[in-house]
Amino acid sequence: MATKQELIKKDLAHVIHPFGMMGAEPTFIWDRGEGVYIQDIDGNRYLDTTSGGVHLCNLGHAPKALADAVSEQMAKMAYFSAGAPNAATEVYIEYCTELAAVLPGDLNHVYLTCSGSEATEVATQIARHYWDSVGQPERYKVIALHRAYHGGTLLSRSLTGSHIGMGSFGRRIPEVVKAPNYYCQECAFGLTYPACDMACAKYIESVIIHEGPETVSCMIAEVAMGNGGVIWPPDEWWPMVRKITKKYDILLIADEVQTGFCRSGKFWGVDQFNVVPDILSMAKGINSGFLPFGAVGISDKIANAFPKGQPFKAYTTSDANALCVTSARAALKVYTGQKMADRVAKLGAHLSKRFKNEFLPLPVVDDITGKNRGLYQSFAIGLGKTTGKPYDMAATAEARNFLAAKALEKGVLLGTCDGYPRRQPICPPFVITEEELDKVLDVTLSVLKEIKPV
Ligand SMILES: Cc1ncc(COP(=O)(O)O)c(C=O)c1O
Repeated sequence: MATKQELIKKDLAHVIHPFGMMGAEPTFIWDRGEGVYIQDIDGNRYLDTTSGGVHLCNLGHAPKALADAVSEQMAKMAYFSAGAPNAATEVYIEYCTELAAVLPGDLNHVYLTCSGSEATEVATQIARHYWDSVGQPERYKVIALHRAYHGGTLLSRSLTGSHIGMGSFGRRIPEVVKAPNYYCQECAFGLTYPACDMACAKYIESVIIHEGPETVSCMIAEVAMGNGGVIWPPDEWWPMVRKITKKYDILLIADEVQTGFCRSGKFWGVDQFNVVPDILSMAKGINSGFLPFGAVGISDKIANAFPKGQPFKAYTTSDANALCVTSARAALKVYTGQKMADRVAKLGAHLSKRFKNEFLPLPVVDDITGKNRGLYQSFAIGLGKTTGKPYDMAATAEARNFLAAKALEKGVLLGTCDGYPRRQPICPPFVITEEELDKVLDVTLSVLKEIKPV
C-alpha cells in the first residue's frame, strides 16, 4: 500500500479536485468509514459531523443494507439504457412507484438522474417543456436566490449565488433572474425580522412583475440554504412564495438535494412549511451518497400536460442505472421502515436545545436566523457580538479554522459552508447516538470558549 506522502505526490501530479485549490496538498486521505466514523490512511479516526463532507451520508458510512442490495443487483444486471426505445428494468419501475408514494401532495411522477446538478437541470427543463406543451413557450426565465447553491453544471451554476461565482467558466446563462434570499442576518433590505414584514418574500413578486410573468417559467429555491450556510427561512417564507408563484402561474421548484430524506426531522423539508411545490429536485441523501444519483418529482398537472406520443428529451446515459436505483431503493426502505424522520427530529430537538442554552450565550456565537431543524443546523460565529464591530470575514475565517483544527485534535471533524466562514454547520449522519452528538457539542463548545471577541 502506498504511503501518505507517495499518494500526495501522485495527487499533485495528476488530480484536479472539484472546487480544489490548484497546487494544494489534500488535507485528508480517507481509507474507510463505518457508521458515524471515518478513518484516514494513517489510522486516525474521526466522528464525522459533515455526513461525508457535504451532508449526504445520512445512513452513515458503508451502510450494510445498501451494500448487500447493490451487490445482489450487480450480480443480476447493472445496466440497460432507460432511454429509447423506452426500456426499463424492474427495479427502475418499482423504485419510481415507491418514491412517488412518499412525495408530497400531487407530486406523483419521477425522473431519475445521476446527481443533484442534473436534477436541477432536468427540473428546469421540465418546467419549460410544460410551458411549451401548454402553448406558452415564451415562458423561459428562471428565478433563483442570491447565495443559493443548485449545482456545478453551467445552468445549475448560473442559478447558484455569486458567493460561488462562475470563475473563468464564462457568464451566467442569461435567462436566470436573481432575487434576494431569506438570510436575516444579512438582510438585503437592512431590516430585522419580524419587523421586516417579510420584505424578501414580497420582493419576489416585484421581480416577477418587473420581468413580466408571461416570460417566467419557474422559480427554484433550496428549502433551507445549504452551501450558503445551513440557514432555514422564517416560517412565513415558503407559504408566501407558494402564494406568489401560484398567483402568477409560475412553477415552483423546491430543491431538496440537502433537506430531503428526513434531514430536517420530516421526510421532506417542505413538510416543515406545509407547502407543496410543483417540482421537487433531490439527490445526496436519496441513497446516502452510496452511488451517484438524483431524481425529480413532478406533479400530476405537469406530467399529464406532456403530449402523448412525443418525446421528453432529457437524457444522460447513466440515468436510472440499476445499481444506483437499487441503492436508493434500499435507502428508502431504511428511511421509511426505521422511521428515520422521528429519530432525526428527536436528535435535532436535543441539538437545538443545546445550541440555544449553551452556545448562544457565548460572546462569539450569534444566530438570529429562522429555526434550526433536525440534523441540519448551524450557528453563526459572531466575533463582534459583544463589541458591536461589523462582520470581519478574514478574522471569522481564522476563528473557524482554529475551531476546526482544535476539534480535529479531539477527534471531531467539523464541516464548513463554502466561502461562508460565518456559519458553522453540524449535520451528522442519522445513525449518530445522543452520546456521540453530545461529544461533538462538548468539544465544539470547549474550543469556542477559547475564541476571543474582536
Ligand atoms: C441544494 C443543492 N442543490 C443541488 C446540488 C448539486 O448536487 P450535486 O453536487 O449532486 O450535483 C447541491 C450540491 O451540493 C446542493 O447542495
